[in-house]
Amino acid sequence: MKRFFILVYMPILFVMNASSAAQIKSEQETAWTESQMKQLNYLWIKNLAPLGSDPSNSVANEKTAIDFGKKIFFDPSFSINGKISCSSCHKPELYFTDGLPRSIGRVKTRSNAPTLLGAAYSPWFFWDGRADSQWAQALGPLEHVAEHAGNRTQYAKIIWNKREYKKAYEKLFGPMPRLSDKKRFPDNAGPKGDEQVRHQWSQMSAQDQVQITTIFANLGKVLAAYQRTLKPEAARFDAYVEALIAQDSKKANKLFNAEEVAGLKLFIGKAMCVICHNGPLLSTYEFKNIGLPVVKELGVEQGRFRALREVTLSEFNCLGKYSSAKESDCAELRFMKTMRDETMGAFKIPTLRNVAKTAPYMHAGQFETLSEVLKHYQKRPITRVGHTDLLVTDLSDNDLKKLEAFLMTLTSQN
Ligand code: HEC
Ligand code: HEC
Repeated sequence: MKRFFILVYMPILFVMNASSAAQIKSEQETAWTESQMKQLNYLWIKNLAPLGSDPSNSVANEKTAIDFGKKIFFDPSFSINGKISCSSCHKPELYFTDGLPRSIGRVKTRSNAPTLLGAAYSPWFFWDGRADSQWAQALGPLEHVAEHAGNRTQYAKIIWNKREYKKAYEKLFGPMPRLSDKKRFPDNAGPKGDEQVRHQWSQMSAQDQVQITTIFANLGKVLAAYQRTLKPEAARFDAYVEALIAQDSKKANKLFNAEEVAGLKLFIGKAMCVICHNGPLLSTYEFKNIGLPVVKELGVEQGRFRALREVTLSEFNCLGKYSSAKESDCAELRFMKTMRDETMGAFKIPTLRNVAKTAPYMHAGQFETLSEVLKHYQKRPITRVGHTDLLVTDLSDNDLKKLEAFLMTLTSQN
């Protein structure tokens, strides 16, 4: 490609002085075709549509729910030891990640904490999409033994006992049952805790179990309402696209250097990153297998394939009794891809916004740095499970440097 460029332009370059030759060369390198401009427009944050409603969550956009959810997100009392909050692993100053290869709650978990900025746009939650709404997702860590490790009756009682929480809860969802009745509602009971906690749960009436589980699900719904407000801001990349659209090449050239331009050209061109990392959040939110190395302690992971069963059976899915949705609102769940071939070893394509700030990378923190990530794409290794969705690309070491320079331009203020 480069050789071709030189051959074609050589004769013209000869008859010009050095500075105008350099100018032509740099204009050639930084110019964008119409179809490339169309692609850049897709990636522009200005084209991030406002979040639609979530029919499964009737309080998704309520101000009271957003404020209440925010308080809970940062409140460590919702845990077995009073020390673990959502923000322990989703730290605002780290773009709602934790900087670890795999998160540590009560104990070490199996996964890397993804950013929550823009997460609400995904139809599926968790790396393998085992939750089909953001409120159902939140209920996972709250009861998981490796994370908050508490139980749903304990959490319902925290709300009942704190005036401010109870008031917000009842404003949104109506009166709470009388949780001070310890015979009906033991302090620690739930279907997922240790033996004692599960035993207490089994002693409760089915009706009281539903009452508690409803409060638990509503806790997820207010947490989701808050998280829906977390979105990435415009990055330098967006300012660059804006300048190009305004045909202000002087401004554009100030915003992006030649290496960044070249990296962006590779990203939407030869490197074919946009097959998966497309749209204003740089993710199509599909599940793909990219043949990552197996983490020894975790063994071979089936990813999306394994999650299909879990999301289908979950009492908190879109079709379940704790969802506010009608069956017709649950198309994602009803028509999800289930073929073994398409789902085995596949994980959710993550956003690349703020990616320079959210190391380590991949669902189990397989890579420490962006340059390790890019080497993986260059090598395109054979997968241990399923088949790889990565196409053959011919990336040089120099291409990787350019791609990395481009990825660094996706950082915003928050
Ligand atoms: C111990 C650390 C830890 C705690 C505490 C924690 N998370 Fe997470 N979070 C993670 C990890 C790790 C993942 C990825 C898990 C997976 O996909 O298997 C995750 C995934 C998520 C996702 C999915 C994002 C996506 O793009 O799919 C959301 C949303 C989320 N967490 C919100 C919360 C909320 C809300 C809380 C509090 C109720 C919380 N987290 C508590 C570590 C944590
Ligand atoms: C076939 C789809 C596909 C293509 C093409 C693709 N990616 Fe990815 N990318 C993924 C998936 C899926 C993951 C997450 C995999 C996992 O953790 O299991 C990922 C993860 C990443 C991550 C880590 C993000 C994080 O927060 O952990 C980076 C960075 C990345 N990709 C950049 C790129 C670049 C640059 C290209 C082009 C060279 C590219 N990707 C091409 C699907 C793809």
